[in-house]
Amino acid sequence: MIIDIVTIFPDFFNEFLRTSIIKRAQDNNQVVINVHNLRDYSDNKHHQVDDTPYGGGVGMVMMFPPFYRIIKALKKENSKVIFLTPQGNVFNQSMAETFTSYEHIILLCGHYEGLDARVLELVDLEVSIGDYVLTGGEIPAMILVDAVTRLIPGVIMEESHQTDSLTNNRLKFPQYTKPECFEGFKVPEVLLSGHHKNIADYRQYMSIETTIQKRPDLIEKFPLTKEELKIIKKGIEKNK
Ligand code: 6GU
Repeated sequence: MIIDIVTIFPDFFNEFLRTSIIKRAQDNNQVVINVHNLRDYSDNKHHQVDDTPYGGGVGMVMMFPPFYRIIKALKKENSKVIFLTPQGNVFNQSMAETFTSYEHIILLCGHYEGLDARVLELVDLEVSIGDYVLTGGEIPAMILVDAVTRLIPGVIMEESHQTDSLTNNRLKFPQYTKPECFEGFKVPEVLLSGHHKNIADYRQYMSIETTIQKRPDLIEKFPLTKEELKIIKKGIEKNK
């Protein structure tokens, strides 16, 4: 997969792209991530990329020509052009899973009051990361790159995808590591038992129970299945 990021603040991405799993994925050629400075595509001697709005009003608007030029330079047949904007579809895990199958993504980071609306005619999809307004699309772009990269086959242990929070619309079960007991804070007995079936049952139960407690909205949207209801009933019996 190739990800091209278009920004007026390329330095923003330095540490992010050189750290941890995102660095390793690039080192292993599982993903190629390029950062482009939009100012390089301005024809203005000051590399200006914004101007005052037609019709008047406050603030600046990002100009159309630099975006037009860079999209023309980068876009191939199988490219998806994604614009990061608070007006977009709200990003979630299932979008991340869809994006992982794309060969080439071009991410456009917006700034200022907005951008010349003609840019949207060259965009396949507008994506927001939530209902609040940020100063620019750089952090949203990093969030998207992070969520998508970790889902590329081989980037992290495949098995950990299946137990990710929000995969199958349920939260992950709680996890523990050494020591067994610290200052009276104990690890649940079942996890120390070595009994694989009981451990699997406990985790399934906790995944559903945690979702009911913390994210009732997910249960409302994706109701408990017959299987899940059975697991919950059994868990309640056990805890009596
Ligand atoms: Cl993608 N951009 C900006 N500027 N603000 C946001 C956002 C994006 N998503 C949520 N807020």
